[in-house]
Amino acid sequence: MTDVEVVGAGPIGLAIAWRCAQRGMRVRVVDDGRAGAAHAAAGMLSPVAEAYFGEEVLTGLLVESAKRWPAFAAELGDVGYRDDGTLVVALTSDDLAEADRLRAYQASLKLPITAMRPSELRDREPRLSPRIRGGAFAPGDHQVDPRKLVPALRRAAVAAGVTITDEREPAGVTVVAAGCGSAALTGLPVRPVKGQVLRLRAPDPGPPGFRHVIRGYADSRHVYLVPRAGGEVVVGATVEELTDSVVTAGAVLDLLRAAADLVPDIAEYHLVEALAGHRPGTPDNAPILGPLDGRAGVVVATGHHRHGIVLTPITADLIADLVEKGVPDPMLAPFTPARFA
Ligand code: GLY
Repeated sequence: MTDVEVVGAGPIGLAIAWRCAQRGMRVRVVDDGRAGAAHAAAGMLSPVAEAYFGEEVLTGLLVESAKRWPAFAAELGDVGYRDDGTLVVALTSDDLAEADRLRAYQASLKLPITAMRPSELRDREPRLSPRIRGGAFAPGDHQVDPRKLVPALRRAAVAAGVTITDEREPAGVTVVAAGCGSAALTGLPVRPVKGQVLRLRAPDPGPPGFRHVIRGYADSRHVYLVPRAGGEVVVGATVEELTDSVVTAGAVLDLLRAAADLVPDIAEYHLVEALAGHRPGTPDNAPILGPLDGRAGVVVATGHHRHGIVLTPITADLIADLVEKGVPDPMLAPFTPARFA
C-alpha cells in the first residue's frame, strides 16, 4: 500500500510528495488535470512587501520560507529564480503616503526595506516614469517562474519515486493539498479569490528593460510587474471575491494603465495572455497546515492564498516532518485546521 497519498498536483502538493519520497516513503500524487492557482501566479517571493498589518505570525512563516528558497531552487535546477529584489514605486503623493505607511510598519518588524527617493529608484530602474514621487527597496524580495517550477517539481518528485495518477486509492496518510478544491474534501473554509493577470512580452528580443520586481501604487490602483529573463513581464493582479474565470475589459484597462503609469514603455509591449486564476483564500488569510480533527490519517496543506509560491519550501518541509514523525512542528501551531473548528 502507498504510505502517503497527496491530493493536489500544484507546487504545494508536488513539493510535499517530493520531500516525503526523499525520506523513503512510498508516495502517490493525485492530479485532476486542472490548472490551479500556480498557472496564473506571478511567482513573487515577497515576505517583506507582502507583510500586511495584523499578519505578523504569517509574516514570520513567509520570512522563514523565503530563507529556504535559494537552496530549494538550487535543488530543482532552472525555476527562473532571480534575486534582483523588489522596488516599491508610488506615483502620486497620496500613493506615496499609502506606501510609506506600510513601509514604516514593515520596518517596525525589522524587515529589510529602505525608503528611496525618485532619483534613487530611477538609478536602479531608468525606465521608471519621471512622474513617480518615491518608494522603497526590498532587497530580499525575489521571484521564481511558477510555470517552470511546477514541471521541475514534477520531474524531481518522479525521480525520487513518486507516482502521479488521476485515481485515488487508500493510503496510510492522505495529504489534502488541493487548493480551492480542499473545501469540498475537508469542510474547511477555503474559498476562491479571483485574480486577473496579464502576460506581456518585450518588443525586442532579450530581457525586458527593467530587472526588479516592481510593486506599484498608481492613482490608488495597486499593481505588480514581474520581469523574466526571457522577455516576459507578468502584470497583476485583481483581488475579487468572485468564482468566475472571466477576464474583464475593466481589469485589463486598470492593470495596464497602472503599469504604464509607472513604466511607460509597457505600452509598447505585446499583450500575449490575459487570464483569471483563483487563490485559495481563508478567513484569516493564513494557510491551513496540520492534522484534520476527526479524520484519522488526514493532513491538510492548503489555503495559501496570496503566498503559495513563497510558502512552498517550508510547507513541504513541515508537512513531510509531520507525516514522518506523526507530531506537528511547533511552527505549525498557529496554522492548525483546528482554529476553524
Ligand atoms: N501574491 C500575489 C497575488 O496573489 O496576486
